Amino acid sequence: LDPRTRSALKDAIRTIPDYPKPGILFRDITTLLGDARAFRRAVDELVHPFAGGRIDQVAGIEARGFILGGAIAHQLSSGFVPIRKKGKLPHTTVSIAYALEYGTDEMEIHSDAVKPGDRVILVDDLIATGGTATAAVELLRRIGAEVVAACFVIDLPELGGADRLRALDLPVRTLIEFE
Ligand code: PRP
Ligand code: ADE
Repeated sequence: LDPRTRSALKDAIRTIPDYPKPGILFRDITTLLGDARAFRRAVDELVHPFAGGRIDQVAGIEARGFILGGAIAHQLSSGFVPIRKKGKLPHTTVSIAYALEYGTDEMEIHSDAVKPGDRVILVDDLIATGGTATAAVELLRRIGAEVVAACFVIDLPELGGADRLRALDLPVRTLIEFE
């Protein structure tokens, strides 16, 4: 990822202070999604290492991971698997509780969402503490997926999430960092 692309993507993200709680600098990707060139660029850069390889499914984390994950799945000609907040998926699920930068929550996946050994990449907009993504990897592994990588537009490296995922033996791709 060249420095000019990186700074163009960074400039396309809006920062909202004190949302959703005092002290949080919220990195808002809606401005990137609404910028056609930046949106395409982000998707192209995230899929770049996987083009030409076999990816059976892209798993996206509700809600912002759905937008990027759907676009990435289309580009890789893969299926898409939603990982959702508790109570939203209609069929039999596997669920897990997890801690957030600002609260706790529970997420679920359909227990038949992948075939055993399916090669899956996990997608979300941002990794902070890694609580969400670590829980998502655990769900995917429990239902038999081979999680081959995790991709995020934004990394908040001081919160350690990307390193936490790498400690699970998972390659992590991120495009830009905010302190
Ligand atoms: C945000 C973001 C990631 C997660 C990252 O989602 O989209 O999923 O937080 O934080 P972590 O690395 O500390 O776990 P949020 O829970 O705000 O849900 P939303 O996308 O539905 O708004
Ligand atoms: N999810 C967790 N931390 C966040 C932040 N600072 N901005 C946007 N989404 C987040």
